Amino acid sequence: MRLSSAVLIFAAVAQQCAGFPSSFFENRALHLGNRTVAAFDPAAQLIDVTGDHAFEAPNFENGDLRGPCPGLNAMANHKFIPHNGIVPFATAFAQSKSVFGLGVLPDTAVTALAIFGADVLALDFSIGGAPPSGILGGLGLLGNVVVNVGNAGRPTGLSGTHNQFESDNSPTRGDFYQFNGNNHDLQLPYFESLYNLPAGGPSANHDRDIIQQHARNRYHQSVSENPYFFYGPVEMVVSCAVHNLVYAMMANHSAECPQGCLTGDVLKSIYAVTTLQDGSLHYTPGHERIPDKWYRRPVDYGLDIVTDLVAMWLRYPELLIVGGNVDGVNTFAPIDIGNLTGGVYSTTTLLEGNNAACFVFQAVQILVPDALSKVAGYVSGILGDLLGAIKPVLDDLACPELSELDTSVLERYPGYKRTNHAV
Ligand code: HEM
Ligand SMILES: *[C@@H]1O[C@H](CO)[C@@H](O)[C@H](O)[C@H]1NC(C)=O
Ligand SMILES: *[C@@H]1O[C@H](CO)[C@@H](O)[C@H](O)[C@H]1NC(C)=O
Ligand SMILES: *[C@@H]1O[C@H](CO)[C@@H](O)[C@H](O)[C@H]1NC(C)=O
Repeated sequence: MRLSSAVLIFAAVAQQCAGFPSSFFENRALHLGNRTVAAFDPAAQLIDVTGDHAFEAPNFENGDLRGPCPGLNAMANHKFIPHNGIVPFATAFAQSKSVFGLGVLPDTAVTALAIFGADVLALDFSIGGAPPSGILGGLGLLGNVVVNVGNAGRPTGLSGTHNQFESDNSPTRGDFYQFNGNNHDLQLPYFESLYNLPAGGPSANHDRDIIQQHARNRYHQSVSENPYFFYGPVEMVVSCAVHNLVYAMMANHSAECPQGCLTGDVLKSIYAVTTLQDGSLHYTPGHERIPDKWYRRPVDYGLDIVTDLVAMWLRYPELLIVGGNVDGVNTFAPIDIGNLTGGVYSTTTLLEGNNAACFVFQAVQILVPDALSKVAGYVSGILGDLLGAIKPVLDDLACPELSELDTSVLERYPGYKRTNHAV
């Protein structure tokens, strides 16, 4: 996942942090131990998956589309979004929020997109691969946003977006260059390592700590197994954010566990994994399923994503260090922040004051428009506007002036060069 989605996350983070000008890092970290947990409200939190929303497997022969996002796949299988996997923006955002409580993307995106009128929100995108050509004519914005520019202008859907939406180091999906470009299917060994991670075994809670440990493990796995591993500023934040979604979105809530408990069974169901008779795990692509009697989070996931990211970086500082393999596996070299920023930041000053936040926001603001030069004009208008949302935060943070980045520093990373993308 990258670029546009990253922009949305940044805009969201920016918007929500605007009230925490100086040292929001410290502020967020400080509140970690004191998360307020809303009381359990079974009627409001139960997601009814009977009747109209009963599980129905996708029919791939009929052209149903499923892709890299377990949440969107599950919502299509339960007809919270269209079963064929072609969905208007507005519906995907609204349903992500009402079914799973994903507030951070939808609120910001909807606000930003609304500026351009209802038309944009009404446009469709594919949650999976390229839609059958018969319905191409009806496809709009995300067909263009997601269009892989090297792909003859054909909308590719979320699955074909290594250059825009998708990044290495996902919780269960493979890195692009390790699986012949298959970055949308679940890789069972990755799932199994997450499933078996809690000390208490798979039936224990796969909580925030567990999923963050998994992110750290996946990171070291990418370093040691993917010669093309590239972890630029945007990839870094997106990879960390997506890991936090697993627990934040999928946990089941109850009176005993109002903050959310994610057992292995729930994890398997929403990830389309079943246990065979011989006890081994089996993945059926596209069969993501919301379990019966599953209770969503009590409040939407908004500001908490910042708290979770900061907690993650404090616990595993290597996850914050942008870079990539430069010469085969196990050759991870950090991006030289000094050279990249013309000396405005250095690796040592990065952890002082607001510098880490400043660097990340500024790098995204500078690097994303660079990548947009390859994308259709009106799309860059929209994303440009989202980027504008970051600006007030930068003013509040009193960041050092950073007007350009020397991206030639990135040319030493084969995973960057090979995809010819911006960070
Ligand atoms: C409009 C709404 C959404 C969009 C556009 C979207 C898009 C994506 C994309 C492009 C990816 C692939 C990222 C990668 O490279 O790792 C992804 C992954 C993911 N999404 Fe979504 N998503 C949306 C809503 C949701 C919802 C509602 C959930 C709730 C469960 C969710 C949970 C996840 C998780 C856990 C992953 C990581 C998958 C893995 O590698 O294991 N997303 N999403
Ligand atoms: C939690 O809140 C209490 C009381 O408001 C405060 O004393 C304590 O420092 C807080 N803990 C953290 C980790 O912020
Ligand atoms: C969610 O938790 C409640 C209370 O423990 C339980 O009755 C229900 O079966 C759980 N749902 C799932 C899908 O595990
Ligand atoms: C960074 O700049 C210094 C001084 O110009 C140079 O010696 C060094 O090779 C550069 N490093 C990278 C990674 O470009």
